[in-house]
Amino acid sequence: MKAVIMAGGSGTRLYPVTIAVNKHFLPIYNKPMIYYPLSLVMLLKIREVLFIVNPQDLENFQKLFGDGSHLGMSISYQIQEKPRGLAKGLILAEEFLNGDTVCYMLGDNVFFGHNLIKIMAEAKTEIENNGGAYVFGYYVKDPERFGIVEFDEEGNVKSIEEKPKNPKSNFAVVGIYFYDSKAVEIAKGVEPSNRGELEITSVNEEYLKEGKLKVKLLGRGFAWFDAGTHDSFLEAGEFVATIEKKTGLMIGCIEEIAYRNGWISREELIKLAKPLAKTNYGKYLLEIAKEG
Ligand code: TTP
Repeated sequence: MKAVIMAGGSGTRLYPVTIAVNKHFLPIYNKPMIYYPLSLVMLLKIREVLFIVNPQDLENFQKLFGDGSHLGMSISYQIQEKPRGLAKGLILAEEFLNGDTVCYMLGDNVFFGHNLIKIMAEAKTEIENNGGAYVFGYYVKDPERFGIVEFDEEGNVKSIEEKPKNPKSNFAVVGIYFYDSKAVEIAKGVEPSNRGELEITSVNEEYLKEGKLKVKLLGRGFAWFDAGTHDSFLEAGEFVATIEKKTGLMIGCIEEIAYRNGWISREELIKLAKPLAKTNYGKYLLEIAKEG
């Protein structure tokens, strides 16, 4: 499986902050927002990643991640000329995916929770072995803002709707999706919505129609932030700061994950840490390298 991370968009909900800066570079506490989705993909042991980016931000993404080789990964970039919706990213990723299954992630989503990786890795394996699509539901108070999934008593999906005026449930579809190789073709058949975007919900609806959409709920033990508004951005930062200070462990530390995955050596980790040594981030990496 390969991963595609959506890191373009217009960021209008964070205006005026994002008039001049792409939101994915903004700090969620001590690291850029984009580290969080990338780290999740890395924890799922996916080494080939494509970032979908706005033309004006390509250079800065390259400055941040290069070709990914310093992390033992292969990172590439695809420009999205205009933010025409989340399903468009699948079409833009066609060549990169080359018929493979995909972990499709939104660049402004932050996840945390015990067993999160286990649950997601199970979904990944299921799609790799049996095809179809996997999405995850999370209870929210303001369902009008999200893609919403409705279930019957047995937990089967009944409907999935984008930003419904009259939501049929409080379960939002979070920003990580697993798809088989048909997703690109399905995305190509999607018609623009009323707001003129190719909606990812339309892709999920198509899988639902074919009886191939699977959903798992992320319960109380999980935190999920769509960090694209002023409040959720701040909450995500406060949450990360609190957990990191309490546990002494970092969330979304990409160099640490690359090292623990065995993708880079101890020497390579130290080399990455040195330019950051004035910060707690760099000191943390050096501590990990010392552990051996
Ligand atoms: P959204 O948060 O839905 O949209 P946005 O980032 O354009 O922000 P706003 O609604 O405030 O104007 O996008 C979810 C993620 O997907 C986010 O990380 C940006 C990214 N994205 C793209 O890369 N391309 C797109 O066409 C869209 C719509 C979003």
